[in-house]
Amino acid sequence: MSLSVVTLQQHHLQEAARLVLKGYDSQRETVSASPCRCDSLELIETRLRGLLDRFPGAAALRGDKLVGFAQGTAVPSLHGRRSAYVPEWGHAADANPIPIYQAMYDYLAPWWMQEGCRSHVVTLFCRSGDVICEMFHCGFGMVVIDAVRDLSPVEGNVAKIQIREACPGDIGVLLEFEENLTEHLASAPIFRRGGKPPDADEVDRLLRDPGHLYLLACEHRQVLGYMRFGPKEAGSLQPFIDDKSVACTGAYVRSGVRRRGVGAALLAGAFDWARRAGYERCTVDFESANVFARRFWLKHFDPITCSLARHIGETAGPKVNREVSTMGDRP
Ligand SMILES: CC(C)(COP(=O)(O)OP(=O)(O)OC[C@H]1O[C@@H](n2cnc3c(N)ncnc32)[C@H](O)[C@@H]1OP(=O)(O)O)[C@@H](O)C(=O)NCCC(=O)NCCS
Repeated sequence: MSLSVVTLQQHHLQEAARLVLKGYDSQRETVSASPCRCDSLELIETRLRGLLDRFPGAAALRGDKLVGFAQGTAVPSLHGRRSAYVPEWGHAADANPIPIYQAMYDYLAPWWMQEGCRSHVVTLFCRSGDVICEMFHCGFGMVVIDAVRDLSPVEGNVAKIQIREACPGDIGVLLEFEENLTEHLASAPIFRRGGKPPDADEVDRLLRDPGHLYLLACEHRQVLGYMRFGPKEAGSLQPFIDDKSVACTGAYVRSGVRRRGVGAALLAGAFDWARRAGYERCTVDFESANVFARRFWLKHFDPITCSLARHIGETAGPKVNREVSTMGDRP
């Protein structure tokens, strides 16, 4: 039966949410520490309903059967430009996904351009290797990886140094590390835009909040590095995150003492704290261009989603290759 693509509509949403959860379940088979999906079906449907009619979405059909969908949103400044963003719960396809994604991107890309979105960003479950490869063929590249693991002991080279919780008297060194981290992320080859380190008030607030943890690695009265933990507040996996998940939200080890197991020791200390606090897993997200940090995280965590971006140059287009109706004219 041939494939057709139409505008995503209300009556597609229940089946669309089911397709997302089917994809998530198969992702969970490969990464057992993945967060539980709990009651996400309804949550995903509600989230999709919130995007519908505000931004172009696509439904791929074989006959009357929904075999794929993609629904994104416009983000005013992602990677510094107005972008079309499709989260991992905003797209899915049944068996044989490649022609479905090809047809949906062909359908949506001109609309996205018409909406002024010259950057196209999509988050996918890492299990969808063939779809990720197809997106690379369409000009996308990897930008961010989300990863997860359970709280079992950290393996490999774990430095035997003191790991302790930071206290209000450590604000000075924490501000220094926060600045170092922001500077590192803004530098080559990462070039992250617009990051601002937390100021003294914010660090003080986090230190006093029992839901957050600042850990310090110390040796001979010197502080070698820090890690920051707390709830996962932004980024992918939101509908799947439960209260058993804690996120690593910042990490920095002084450059002269890297590769000695200091990062691993901070993780080990954090997992002891997280187990005592009733957590079952830890998540982290990082820029894939942060090459050494990527090696570090992927030594200890399993990738679960990745975000891919395509930036279309200012000189290209905005000519679209066929007539595109405005949002209001859509069927
Ligand atoms: C990521 C970071 C916290 C790791 O701390 P660390 O104390 O070096 O970590 P460990 O010694 O426990 O682990 C070392 C592993 O990390 C990776 N790594 C870290 N630095 C590396 C480097 N310069 N070259 C190659 N691999 C490196 C490797 O996988 C290495 O394992 P290997 O030595 O067996 O190859 C540290 O590199 C850092 O502060 N980076 C700058 C800030 C940053 O990017 N933070 C993360 C933001 S998401």
